[in-house]
Formats: sequence, structure tokens, C-alpha cells
Amino acid sequence: MRTVSHILVAVAAFSISGVVAQNYDVSSSAPGYAIKGKVHKTRSGLEIPLELNDGDGVDLYGKTIRDLVVNVDFETADRLHVKIGDKDEKQIPVPDHAYGLERPKTRKPAKKLNYDFKYTENPFGFQVIRKVDKEVIFDTSDYPLVFEDQYLELSTAVPNDANLYGIGEVTAPFRRNNEQNVTTVFARDAGTPFYENIYGAHPYYNEIRKGKAHGVFLLNAHGMDVFFSEGRVTYKVIGGVLEFYFFVPKDGKPNSVLEKYTDLVGKPFMPAMWMLGWHHCRYGFKNISHVNWAVDGYAKANIPLETIWVDIDYMDHMKDFTFDEINFPEESMVALSEKMHANNQRMITMVDPALSNNDSYLPYEHGKEMDVFMKNSDGSEYIGQVWPGFTVFPDWWHPNVTEYWDYWIIDWMKKLDLDGLWIDMNEPASFCLGSCGDGKANTDPPLQWELPEEDQIRIHAEEEAALKARGVSIPGDDRNLLYPNYAINSGGGNLSERTAPMTSLHHGGISHYDYHNLYGHAECSLTRNSLLKYKPDERPFILTRSSFSGSGQYVGHWTGDNHSSWAKLKNSIAEIFNFQMFGIAYSGADVCGFFDNATETLCTRWMEIGAFYPFARNHNTLVASHQEPFLWERTAEASRRALAVRYALLPYYYTLFEEAHRVGTGVWRPLIFAHPEVDAFLDNDVQTLVGTDILLTPVVEENATSVEGQFPEGIWYDWYTYESHVSTSPEEKVTLEAEMEHIPVHIRGGAILPLKTPAYLVKDTYASPYTLLVALDQDGEAEGRLYIDDQHSVQQPATSDITFSYKRGVLRAKGKFDYADAEKVGTIKIVGADDLTTASYNGKKFDLESKDGAIVLEGADIELTCGFTVKFR
Ligand code: NOJ
Repeated sequence: MRTVSHILVAVAAFSISGVVAQNYDVSSSAPGYAIKGKVHKTRSGLEIPLELNDGDGVDLYGKTIRDLVVNVDFETADRLHVKIGDKDEKQIPVPDHAYGLERPKTRKPAKKLNYDFKYTENPFGFQVIRKVDKEVIFDTSDYPLVFEDQYLELSTAVPNDANLYGIGEVTAPFRRNNEQNVTTVFARDAGTPFYENIYGAHPYYNEIRKGKAHGVFLLNAHGMDVFFSEGRVTYKVIGGVLEFYFFVPKDGKPNSVLEKYTDLVGKPFMPAMWMLGWHHCRYGFKNISHVNWAVDGYAKANIPLETIWVDIDYMDHMKDFTFDEINFPEESMVALSEKMHANNQRMITMVDPALSNNDSYLPYEHGKEMDVFMKNSDGSEYIGQVWPGFTVFPDWWHPNVTEYWDYWIIDWMKKLDLDGLWIDMNEPASFCLGSCGDGKANTDPPLQWELPEEDQIRIHAEEEAALKARGVSIPGDDRNLLYPNYAINSGGGNLSERTAPMTSLHHGGISHYDYHNLYGHAECSLTRNSLLKYKPDERPFILTRSSFSGSGQYVGHWTGDNHSSWAKLKNSIAEIFNFQMFGIAYSGADVCGFFDNATETLCTRWMEIGAFYPFARNHNTLVASHQEPFLWERTAEASRRALAVRYALLPYYYTLFEEAHRVGTGVWRPLIFAHPEVDAFLDNDVQTLVGTDILLTPVVEENATSVEGQFPEGIWYDWYTYESHVSTSPEEKVTLEAEMEHIPVHIRGGAILPLKTPAYLVKDTYASPYTLLVALDQDGEAEGRLYIDDQHSVQQPATSDITFSYKRGVLRAKGKFDYADAEKVGTIKIVGADDLTTASYNGKKFDLESKDGAIVLEGADIELTCGFTVKFR
């Protein structure tokens, strides 16, 4: 039995103003739990019964639950599942469903585990040990477990100053430090304040320890604070159960950890090729001519534009599925869609979940008839307030909602022949606190964005009192859903601030308190299904603001309302890294910034790096000044140059997305995830690897004309000049010239990149034959991969998956060549060799040319229908 020297108890951080919660050690102790009776072997692991120890320190913030069960499942060689739940199963876990998380069914325990699991009897604690080096990666044994209906606390020891990445959604540097140590997980409509909880919920982290990575996922959808402090990680959760998954691949590679994590939560969806083109949007297009002006402006300036987005501006009084008859009449929107399609471009519009509850509004009438809206605890409709005024909210858990949502989504898609949907405000956001009365006013209600704290408390107390007086029994009534005693550090303070009240209800009497973090995720899943019913074989395009672990299988994500500031430009990179780690590979940030006015220099630098975001879109807000990249000459030039690189790299990006979809790895990768053994990369959250072979070193500081970068060991070639840089020490900071219109891009020596000739549109870019860029390493060798399919269908009868290698002057292509419409390699460029003069392929001889730093074989005309060999001399 272990003695507990000190324990961790959360001090009542009851605050509705968002005071930073503290992680205190106190001398009084929570009693912890002891194993009671027999530990049973189950089919896939162990079942451990626990009982509360006698002692003080119970009911800290809720009702202590005395009897628990720990289920340990050795699910796979790399994945361990430890679930600590209440014996009576009254606590609400994440549902085993597409709107929660579909857990894999485990039959037998895996053999040859890469981890050990140990536990102590009294107090109960457990350790997860990485077998290869006997490293204890998770250890709760010094911290007694607290398990109450509205407060669960569990800590693990970690090294001081541990290298922890993840837990979100939050705007913060990629590696979390111990000073800003609390990350709150609670979906919230908030314009990206640093270190506060924002739109999505991802209770997942990666740790790098001794050069190896592992992942820890707490599958719980309740609000929580996660503290990263000296020597410890602590979870303080306001409901549900403690369901942990540990990912411990033998090789300790961050990519393997991501693979294992996404084996569980789902692999990122496969985008269609067009989705990788450039997107433009703004909130505040005044009318259809304004939108057309933007589309035409891009064309005149020759800045690639693949997709135009129309925000809520098009709506009649901001009501979904309607048109502003004056500024965006239906015919004009149809005409825009037709024009875009005629030009091989695309169009996307916004759809918000909140629907006006105006009686003459059909989607409301229809939904009311089908009974699909969220309810108040007394059974009346829950009414919030969003753009159209008073609104109702679809209850994604209602059995009728699929039919309802399918109807409106499909109708809308057809009406405009849209290419995709943007689902926003799905935390869900609501501007008034509580249910806004009967909400029947037809005039726009006053916005109550921020009520003074006293008013918030008063309104909720009144609501509760009124319900009680009417004898309404609120499910979960004995829990304090509005003001749980442990106040997570949500930036909004009050949990119900700017969202549905925690007491509102979903189907089956589930309180919003228990499903809040899943609301957006459920909408993602449902909307994807609607789009698949509309066009069953077309890969759906959906961009969401709110997300949960696993949303990446359905949708992409943008990081929400950032600011036109240098700090937000820099931090956008860390945020995208986070989402790559959370399994949402198709992610990006508003390029040039949403709030505030972008300057020419900021927008220029932002377009340069934004051109490489996995999802790349310029977006702006209502009152901010214009930031279309064609408005400033330097921005236009920088955009053309950077987008030319992206479009050249489209086959490489697409191949990476296929890998993300199949394996779970990110498209964008921080250097530390590629080289976990290099401590010098631990804090580098600006330089970005696209896959393994392209290194971006953006300028994120005002007035800079050069930038410092680090390079993993080996040769790196400048994208534009093929000049080589040989790195022998990744610690070294190399100064790179970066005048205003230039973003430094390097190619890894050892890579073979499949490229296209960039054109204005993705389609035209793809019409060009491939160039194979062979960038040699120190041994004169290189390798690469190319994936080909029809670029848009869900079902792919035949695909090509080709690997290239170059060794001792021989370029070989082998693999699978099943894709029917054969594409061709037109050019081969060899970088890093200067003594080659001729090549032979298929009995033909070619003279090589030395051009712009590379040796070039033009006119190769190689069909990608089977393997081939080209010999260079
Ligand atoms: C909030 C979103 O975050 C933003 O991108 C959008 O422009 C506005 N809603 C208006 O729809």
C-alpha cells in the first residue's frame, strides 16, 4: 500500500468571471478508493471493483460516488483502454455512436503489448509503462482519485517541464508551458482569446519524452480543466466517467501515435482535389455585385481562385435557406453559382444551426411539426438568439432530425447547385442567456452579448425558481447544472453564457450539460450524411467551427475568428498543428485575419504562409477594411508566387491527404513530430513541414526581411534556386533572406516530388503532365510517392499508388498503376547532381540540359500505366 504524502484538491474556483483556476496542494486528503473484492479477468483485460475509503474529503464539489468499476482492456498492442466508471452507470459517458464515438469492439486482449499496466490496491492508482525503455508514462499512484457526480479528478506524474502538446481547442503556442497552465475544454463561441477555451473540444495530448512520443486521450464530453503543472498533469472534470485511452507505439514516433489515435477516433476524410485550391470569403459582402467584384478581381490580378464563399449576408434577415431579395436575390445567387461552374470554379454558402422561430418561416414550422428542436426543462421549446433574432436549435439526437435536416440541406444544395457547406455557430452559440422568453417578437431583439454577472446569476436563479414553483422536475435536478460547484475556468464564466442553458434538453431527457461538447460534432456527422444522400458518390465538403475528437472523419475545420495581427498570424501555425494532431487534417485559419484591419505587409506575409495551409482561405469580418489580396500590389505578387508553389505541389498535397485519410498522419507537421529526438525542435512552432519533404520558413514578424530557420540534418534545397544547404546541426539557426514577396521553401534532399505546372485553376493545373523533381541526398539517392484517383468520387474502383526511387543514376517507378485515365510524366528534374548528360528510357535516348540549377530531361512522355526505369549517365 502506498502512503499518500500530499494530494491535490481543487480549490473552489467558483467564478463566473473566468478567474484562473489553480492547482493547489493541500494537506487534508481525499480518501481515494481501494480495490474491493476480486479483480476479474475479462475477455479483453481486467475488471477491478473499487470502493471509497473512509475518511474526510468527500463531496468536494458534488456527490461522492462510493462504488466504481475499472475496466482495463488491452485493446491492441499499442492501445490501452482504462475506464473508471460508477458501478451503477448513472454517469453519462460519451455515447457509443457516430454523434459521440463509436468504440471498437474488442474481443480478445492483444498479444505482445508495447506497454505494461500496473495498479496499486489502496489507494487505487495505476501506471502505464512503455515497455521498450521501461518509462512510466502515466502514473496516478501518488494522487488519490476523486469521483463525484459533478467532479472527477485524476492526476498523473510527468517530468518537470514535460513536453506536452495538445488539449484544445485553444489559441496558444504549440508546446504548452507550465505558466499558463490550465486548458479548459468546453466548446465556446469566442473570438480566439489566447489561452481560453474556444470552439471545439479535444481532450487529447501527445507527450514527447526521451525522444519518444505517446498519446493520452480522455474520452469525456463534459467541461473540464486540464492542468499542465510542474511534474503533473491533472484533469478536473464536471461529469461523466474517466475513460482513458493510451497510445504507445513501439517505435515511439509521433506519426505512429497519430495513426493509433485515429484508428480509434476515425481517419480524416479524403478531400476532393478542388478543395485544395484557394478559397475566398468575407462576412460583409454588401450585395451580389460585391461578390462578383471579388471573383473578377482575382481573375484580373491572376491570383488563383477556386472557390467563392457567401456568408450569412445572402440571407433574408439572416435566416437559413432564404435570400435577401434586394441584395442577394435568388436569381443572382443561382447566376453566381452558374458562372462559377461555367468557369470550373466552385461556390459554398453558410448554414447556421439556429433557425428563426418566426411562425411564418417554413423550416421552423416544419421542425416544430416534427418536434426536432431542443427543449427547456419544462418541455417547452428552448429559444435562444442568434443572427435572425430569436431562434430554435435542432436537437441532433432526436429520431426525426435526420429526415428534417436531410430535407432542408438537400433542398438548399439543389437550389444553388452548391459545392459544399460551411457550418458555423455550432457550439452552439446563442447571444441571450437562458431561454429568451417566448421569443415571439418579430422585431430584432436587442443583443445581450454580455450581461453583467449579477444579471446572469439572477436570471438563471429566477428561471430555476419559476420551474420549481411550477413543480417541474428537471432531469438531473439533483445536480447543479447551471452552477456546478467546481467552476471550470471557461473564459465565458457562466457555463450557459453565449450558448444553450445547461438545463436545456436533448432527446431522451439528456441535459445539454452532458452533450454540450458534442453538439457541433453531431451536426458534422449528420450534415455529411445529408450531403452523401444528395450526391452519394461525391466527397462532401463541410467546414465546421465546433468539433470534437473524431470530427475529422466528417469535416474540415477553420480556427475561427482570429485577428489581423502578427501574433495571430504566428499562432495560426500552432493551431493548425493542433488540428493535425486531433485528426482534422483539412484545417486552416482565416488568412489575413478576421477581426480588425489587415495592413498590406501583414496580409502579404499571411498570404505567403496561408497559401500552404492544408485548407487555404482568406476571410474577413463585417466592419473590417477590405483584404482581398489583389488590392495591394505586393500582396498580389506574393500571393501569385506562393500559390504557384502550392499548385505545383498539388499532387504532393493530394498524396499526403490520401495518407492522412488512410493512416491518420498530418499534412502539416511540426519539426518536433518529425524528429522527436531533437530537443532543439521542441518549441519550434513556426517552421512547418508539409509531409516530410517540404519545409516552410515563413516570416511572421513585421518589417522583417530575413528569417531564422532550423534544418534537420541532411541536404535542403531552396525551392526557387535549388541552392543547397547542408545541415549538420539542427540546433543551428540559419538566416534566410525573405524580402516582402518571398517565403522561403526548402526541399528535403532525398525526396522525389510529383509536381504539376501551376495554372489559375486546379483543373488546368492538373491537365499538365507531371514533373518529377528528384532532389538527391548525400548518397545521391531519393524516394517519393504519388497517389492518383479520379479526384472526387467516394468509391474508387481503381487507383494508382506509385513509389519512385532514384539510386546510382537509375530512376524507378513501381507500385500499382490501376487508375484508368493514364497521366504522363513530361519532365524529370534532378537536383544535386551535376555530372549527368544523357538518359535512356524505353530504348530512347535523351540529352539532358543543365537549367536553373537542375539537370532536366524534357519531353519524356512516360505514361503512368506501368512501372518504368530511366537510366541517367
Ligand atoms: C462567425 C464565424 O466565425 C465567422 O467566420 C462568420 O463570418 C460569422 N460568424 C458570420 O457568419
